[in-house]
Amino acid sequence: MNAVRTERIGSTLLITIDRPETRNAVNAAVATGLAAALDELESDASLRVGVLTGAGGTFSAGMDLKAALAGESPGVPGRGFGGVTEAHVTKPLIAAVEGWAMGGGFELALACDLIVAAGAAQFGLPEVKRGLIAAGGGVIRLPRRVPHHLAMEFLLTGEPVDGRRAAELGLVNRVTEAGEAAAVAIRLAERLASNAPLALAAVKKIVHATDGMPEADAFALQRDQMRALMASADVREGMTAFAERRAPQWTGQ
Ligand code: COA
Repeated sequence: MNAVRTERIGSTLLITIDRPETRNAVNAAVATGLAAALDELESDASLRVGVLTGAGGTFSAGMDLKAALAGESPGVPGRGFGGVTEAHVTKPLIAAVEGWAMGGGFELALACDLIVAAGAAQFGLPEVKRGLIAAGGGVIRLPRRVPHHLAMEFLLTGEPVDGRRAAELGLVNRVTEAGEAAAVAIRLAERLASNAPLALAAVKKIVHATDGMPEADAFALQRDQMRALMASADVREGMTAFAERRAPQWTGQ
């Protein structure tokens, strides 16, 4: 079974991460599947907007910690985490979030241009609980989307907020009833798709290129930090503790 499914609905490409038994955790198969889905969206002129969602009532629990422990990469070279977070997508992307958008799941949503979420959805960056940082855009993008102290609370506590609170913070465009996020996102996509594709692409390009510090510089700096972090004992401990369902024992090494 494919880890990522695509479905054409008019000019919208509905992209679904389909590993509900892992809460749609992102392993290498999901990352390559999402990259292929974005290629499908970009290469077909009849497709105007992408909607990214997850199967089984959950968006994504982020990096597949067990696959990562086994040495699997959740990223695609040049395209970032999940094949999405550093990808250059010229067409609008809408995240349709039900259930959990944790860690890399939240970061996939932050990589989208609009976010539709069920009120009971949960958005959080628990990386620090695992000895990691939110390196798929969380540390870089979230402080650009919400005020400093709120971003720091997400990043330093690792605690989630629900979809209603995320909307209050300005992170969510539409709050829906449970089970309605994808349908509302598809309707929103149809509205976007009625506008001029080149104009939409121009808006995206300008907004991204003028957004404070160039992200490529920020990501490059972060990569050096991540290299050292990934060599630490505590990162293995954090991921191992999660996989073994126990509290981590930090050594600071
Ligand atoms: N990586 C690998 N497996 C994961 C996973 C992840 N990120 N998130 C969930 N799973 C697996 C669980 O290990 C479990 O598998 P098992 O039944 O074989 O033990 C299954 O998915 C269901 O998860 P469970 O925790 O029982 O579901 P829940 O609905 O009670 O909780 C979450 C959902 C998302 C809150 C919880 O799974 C979680 O905290 N996941 C980790 C989030 C995270 O830390 N992401 C990465 C940050 S670096």
